[in-house]
Amino acid sequence: KKVVLAYSGGLDTSVILKWLQETYGCEVVTFTADLGQGEELGPAREKARLLGIREENIFVEDLREEFVRDFVFPMFRANAVYEGLYLLGTSIARPLIAKRQIEIAEAVGADAVAHGATGKGNDQVRFELSYYALKPDVTVIAPWREWTLTSRTALLEFAEKHQIPIAKDKRGEAPFSVDANLLHSSSEGKILEDPAQEADEIVYQRTVSPMAAPDRVTEIAIDFKEGDPVAINGEALSPASLLARLNALGRENGIGRLDLVENRFVGMKSRGVYETPGGTILAVAHRAIESITLDRGVAHLKDELMPRYAELIYNGFWFAPERRMLQAAIDASQAHVTGRVRLKLYKGNVMVAGRESPHSLYAMKYVTFEDDQGAYDQADAKGFIRLNALRLRLGAMAGRKGGAL
Ligand code: ARG
Ligand code: SIN
Repeated sequence: KKVVLAYSGGLDTSVILKWLQETYGCEVVTFTADLGQGEELGPAREKARLLGIREENIFVEDLREEFVRDFVFPMFRANAVYEGLYLLGTSIARPLIAKRQIEIAEAVGADAVAHGATGKGNDQVRFELSYYALKPDVTVIAPWREWTLTSRTALLEFAEKHQIPIAKDKRGEAPFSVDANLLHSSSEGKILEDPAQEADEIVYQRTVSPMAAPDRVTEIAIDFKEGDPVAINGEALSPASLLARLNALGRENGIGRLDLVENRFVGMKSRGVYETPGGTILAVAHRAIESITLDRGVAHLKDELMPRYAELIYNGFWFAPERRMLQAAIDASQAHVTGRVRLKLYKGNVMVAGRESPHSLYAMKYVTFEDDQGAYDQADAKGFIRLNALRLRLGAMAGRKGGAL
């Protein structure tokens, strides 16, 4: 019996590690991923060793490039936003962690996987739907849904009993629960649980306050190739370095803060405070390059599909056929989404200053209010409007004026 645990090195997953050994008597394999959360991974390896995990059972991997290239960028091609505001920073990371966990399980001959998400949230669903889609016969262990360590005190007692090192600041209640990666950091719970109460400034970790941001504009240019950003200010960058660069620009300028009450898949509302500095810049820039390169029909259909696509990712259906089907359509739409967007960053704002593309559909010759030299015949518009108006006129003639039903 072997189980692969998604292990952060923190107190909760360390307790889970011991609990798995004790409860299931199984050999634990730990998997720790660097998704750009901004923490050293050395300590996680060290701690796994300390807790008695054999060297060959400790997996620590840098997944930053894969995360941005194969998960974040494909999602941004869709302009995916959940409930109008959330850029899905946590949601999009879960399928990748789950995928590597299953690959490791196959490699070491484990039949079970475990994670540290609670039974109340979205993350359990995202992990487990991904596990089952990739390894249909897998055994899933979710300690938070099984054990009796229902209070912080019980957890700390268990940790003490098993000589799990507890960081000094973890002895008391941590003030909120955090999840972070290259795309965003999220804070939920505890001092944030009352949605009427404003989040304290200490909650924000990767942006300065817009009020404290510099009183001058930062100008940048982002180059896109087939829907994905490839360079900043003319410098070609790998996906992860590009997002890291945008995060730094966003941080300084107070960009990408969000305080949101959202609907969890399990049915309850929850309040989260998110910071997505680079992603917020990227979302504005991507829409700007699409604005000149996409056909209207394609653009509008994309926008109709987007909420469904975003909901699929939020609900954990990344590895589902309908997500792949939508992705194929979205990817196909990006063939001409190539060009440059110039932006101004200023005190929390991302303002478009210009956009250009070799594949632009913007036709100055047609749109100009100056002499268009016969490109467009304004007389055509008369029949266009008269036919569109026909049913409105017939309705009005029948006594239903002004669109009355
Ligand atoms: N509510 C966000 C989501 O479902 C974030 C969840 C994880 N955040 C956390 N602080 N544990 O995607
Ligand atoms: C959790 O429940 O573990 C975090 C919150 C969520 O998944 O929605």
